[in-house]
Amino acid sequence: MDDRKSDTDESDAEQTRGVTSVLRRVLPIGAAFAFGYLFGKRSEGTPVVDEMGMKPSEIEVPDAVEKALERENEQKERGEQDEQESQTERDSKAEQAESNRDESASEVTAFSAPVTHGMPMFGFGTYELEDYDQCVESVKTAIETGYRHIDTAEGYDNESAVGDAIAESDVSRDELFVATKVSPENLDFDHVLTSAEESLERLGLDYVDLLYVHWPTGEYEADDTLEAFAELREEGLIREIGVSNFTVELLQEAVETAEEPIFANQVEMHPMLQQNDLREFCAQDDVDVELVAYSPIARGDVADIPELRAVAEKHDATPTQVSLAWCREKGVTTIPKATGREHIQENWRSLGVELDEEDIEKIDAIDREERLVDPDRAPWN
Ligand SMILES: NC(=O)c1ccc[n+]([C@@H]2O[C@H](COP(=O)([O-])OP(=O)(O)OC[C@H]3O[C@@H](n4cnc5c(N)ncnc54)[C@H](OP(=O)(O)O)[C@@H]3O)[C@@H](O)[C@H]2O)c1
Repeated sequence: MDDRKSDTDESDAEQTRGVTSVLRRVLPIGAAFAFGYLFGKRSEGTPVVDEMGMKPSEIEVPDAVEKALERENEQKERGEQDEQESQTERDSKAEQAESNRDESASEVTAFSAPVTHGMPMFGFGTYELEDYDQCVESVKTAIETGYRHIDTAEGYDNESAVGDAIAESDVSRDELFVATKVSPENLDFDHVLTSAEESLERLGLDYVDLLYVHWPTGEYEADDTLEAFAELREEGLIREIGVSNFTVELLQEAVETAEEPIFANQVEMHPMLQQNDLREFCAQDDVDVELVAYSPIARGDVADIPELRAVAEKHDATPTQVSLAWCREKGVTTIPKATGREHIQENWRSLGVELDEEDIEKIDAIDREERLVDPDRAPWN
């Protein structure tokens, strides 16, 4: 119906446009011709008739002119009215969108992450946010959304951007939990100290909340490396000591060797790699190490897991949110990485997803061992 109506309007308009356009071109010619005819002053060389290819006798009658001009004026007025209406409509839509945005922003920021021993259990990963401007923008968006735990590494080549985003954000340093990592080639005693100082300089911070051994490879030697970490902690340059990609055996060795407690082990974990042994080991009273899950949404692959899709549907959530909520249920901190506001907020909203026992059992039963980060140098290879 609407289509037909607009088709008809369009053909009327076209006819009118046709007549009007002819008249617009013809009227001045007619006037000039009449003027010249009556007063004998038709200027030489004025190509009035030639240009139009018409003789004066073919010029349209004034009645048609008036009618057409009237119709054109009416249409013009209607158009202006329409234009005004659609402008009002656009304004009101923009207002609505703005208010929706405010609502959804406050709905998003209303959540807060649980905290374990001072560490917010929901953090922001920054691996592959290498473009300076993009990294600053993403980290600022994350902080604005509510993230208070930021994970970086000297190897990510973005500590300066992370530091600048922190400095530019409205949140004070002491409200944030910042973690970085020492690369394998810098894990001998002296290099740990210089590497940590350089990270702090790039981050523009006096201390980091958590400094990890990125991989137990390269220059890593439990006693030498961890002694340097302990010294940094004593000097107040780092608040906590972390390790990453440590197996049960390596973690046991680290816990027994270190003069200061090992606070966290950061490993890959998601419903396709559930890390049952490590979780059990970390939870032991004499170990008491936090588990931090990297790649907690399996870099987007969780979207294809049927069990997660089913649970997501039940909770009107996304599989990504379910994966993050499941890790939380297991007492594990997650640090999903995202670039744009949409993903950043979607992930943050996982804090509002409450799984029940049936959901958790369903996800626990996923029997897959799919590791995404699996370099040859990894201790499990
Ligand atoms: N210690 C280690 O050895 C180690 C290893 C790997 C990672 N990490 C740390 O852990 C963090 C997270 O791990 P990760 O980056 O490997 O993987 P991840 O967080 O599981 O996944 C990140 C990927 O998922 C996409 N994504 C984010 N939110 C999404 C959403 N709601 N829906 C669909 N796709 C979404 C991202 O795309 P967009 O970017 O386009 O949003 C990105 O491609 C890293 O950034 C890093 O800080 C540590």
